[in-house]
Amino acid sequence: MSILQTTVDPSSAEYAAAAEAMTAQLAELEAEHAKALAGGGEKYVRRHHERGKLLPRERIELLLDPDSPFLELSPLAAWGTEFPVGGSTVTGIGVVEGVECLIVANDPTVRGGTSNPWTLRKGFRANDIAMQNRLPVISLVESGGADLPTQKEVFIPGGRMFRDLTQLSAAGIPTIALVFGNSTAGGAYIPGMSDHVVMIEKRSKVFLAGPPLVKMATGEESDDESLGGAEMHARTSGLADYYAVDEPDAIRIGRGIVRRLNWRKQGPEPHPEVREPRHDPEELLGIVPADLKVPFDPREVIARIVDDSDFDEFKPLYGSSLVTGWARLHGYPVGILANARGVLFSEESQKATQFIQLANRANTPLLFLHNTTGYMVGREYEERGMIKHGSMMINAVSNSTVPHISILLGASYGAGHYGMCGRAFDPRFLFAWPSAKSAVMGGAQLAGVISIVGRAAAEARGQAFDEAADEAMRAAIENQIEAESLPMFLSGRLYDDGVIDPRDTRTVVGMCLSAIANALIEGTDSFGVFRM
Ligand code: COA
Repeated sequence: MSILQTTVDPSSAEYAAAAEAMTAQLAELEAEHAKALAGGGEKYVRRHHERGKLLPRERIELLLDPDSPFLELSPLAAWGTEFPVGGSTVTGIGVVEGVECLIVANDPTVRGGTSNPWTLRKGFRANDIAMQNRLPVISLVESGGADLPTQKEVFIPGGRMFRDLTQLSAAGIPTIALVFGNSTAGGAYIPGMSDHVVMIEKRSKVFLAGPPLVKMATGEESDDESLGGAEMHARTSGLADYYAVDEPDAIRIGRGIVRRLNWRKQGPEPHPEVREPRHDPEELLGIVPADLKVPFDPREVIARIVDDSDFDEFKPLYGSSLVTGWARLHGYPVGILANARGVLFSEESQKATQFIQLANRANTPLLFLHNTTGYMVGREYEERGMIKHGSMMINAVSNSTVPHISILLGASYGAGHYGMCGRAFDPRFLFAWPSAKSAVMGGAQLAGVISIVGRAAAEARGQAFDEAADEAMRAAIENQIEAESLPMFLSGRLYDDGVIDPRDTRTVVGMCLSAIANALIEGTDSFGVFRM
C-alpha cells in the first residue's frame, strides 16, 4: 500500500490563479450546457408542456431509479455548428431497476425531434457505447424522422441507426422503445427494430408516412390514429407489445420490462470496501495551471480520484515524464498512465508498452490522464529510435483489449494524443476537463511551421518575403488553431463524450468502470510486431 502525499497548497498564489482560471472556464461551460438544457427554446417547451407532455430529461428522470445518477453523454454535440447545441437528443447512462442502461431520448421541442447530421453522430456514439459495454438500450421516441432540409447528410449515413439496433439485438443486448408521440419514417423504424415496444393511447403515432404523404402516394384518405395510433398497433399490426394509458404508465411498463430482463453483469464485482481519497477532490480546481506550458504533477490528480489515495507506482525511476501505476477506483482495479512533464521520450514509450502488456495479462482496465505535447523531436532523439519506440506504444494501445478510459486534463497534442489512447483508438469513454486542449500541435508552433515553409518557398523562387503579410497570417492561424483546440469545439464534434468538472472525475470514471463491467474484461497477449 502506497498512499500518495500532496504538495498542493490551497493558500498559495499559484493555486489561487489556477483555480480562478478553472472556475471561469467552468462558468463558460455551464452557459453552453444551459443551451442544451433549453432544448428548442421557451416557445416550444411551453407548447410541449401545454400538450400535457414531458420533456426528454423529465422522462429520463422518471425512468431512472430514484436518486440514482445519470451520466449524460455528448451534451454539447453540434456546438459551434449551424445546428442547436445538443443535437436534438439526450443520451446517457442511467440505472433502471438496478440495471445500467444506455438511454436515448429525442427532444421533440427541437425541430420536431428530427435527426440532423449531429443527432446521428451522437446516436451512433451512444450505440457504440451500448455495444462495447453490453448495456441495454432504452429509446424514448418522439421524432419526425429525418431533418428534411439536410437529408443529403442524413439519409445515407442514417441507415446505420437501423443496422446498429438490429446488431445490438443480435448480440443479445436488449433494445426497448417507449414511443411518446410522433414517430415518423426513420422514427418508425426505431420501434420496428426494437425487442420490446410500448405505445401510449392517443399519443403514439407510428407510421412510415403521415396522412398527407399517403394521400399523395396512393390517394388514400386516412388520419393519424387509424394510420399509426397505439390502439391500431396494439390490436391490429402487432408493432406495439404494451399499451400504456399515459406517459407515466409507459415509463412504469418500461421499468417492468427491464426488471424482467434478468440482466447479469459479466465483468468482475468491485472490491466491497471502498475508501474515499485522502485528499480533497475540491482541490482538483487548482492543480492545472492556466498556462499549460507550466508542468504539474499528475499524482496530485491521482491522489484525489483513487480509493484511499492508494497508488502503487510502476517503474517510478524510469521514464519519469510518464507516471504509471495501479490503483482501485470505486472498488474497481485500474492501471493508470499519466503524463508528467508533457513530452514522451523513448523510455516513457517503452515503459508504457510494458505497462499496457501487464494490464492485459491482469485483465485490468486502463485510465489515461492526458497532458502531453507529443513525442520528442530532434536529431538525438531520432537517432535513439523515437519513431520506433513511439510506434511501439501506439501498437500496444491499439491492440490492447482491456477497456480504456481517457481523460484530457491539459495538453493532448500530436501523436502523443494517439499514444495516450485518443479518440481514434476507441477508448470506451473519453472526457475532457475545461482546461484541455487538443490539436496536431500548438497554434503558435503550427503558424510558425507554415511561416518557415512559406519563407523557404519564396527564397527558392527568388522572391521577396512579405513580412507584414506573414505576421498577419501567423496571428490569424494561431487564433484559429487555438479556438479549434478547445474542449467545447472538440466536444461539439463528438471527439469526446463530454467536458466535465474536474471535481466530478472520480464519480464519472467510477460510473464508466461500473458500466464497463457489464461486459467481460479480457486482456490479450497478441500485439502487432514490436520494432525493438
Ligand atoms: N425536417 C425539418 N424540420 C421539421 C421536420 C422535418 N422532418 N418536421 C418538423 N420540422 C420543423 C417544423 O418546420 C417546425 O419548424 P418551425 O417551428 O420553425 O416552423 C418545427 O420543426 C416544429 O414542427 P411542428 O409541426 O410545429 O411541431 P409539432 O410538434 O406540431 O409536430 C411533427 C411535429 C414531427 C409531428 C410534424 O412536424 C411532422 O409531421 N413533420 C414531418 C414529419 C415527416 O414527414 N418526416 C419524414 C421524414 S423522412
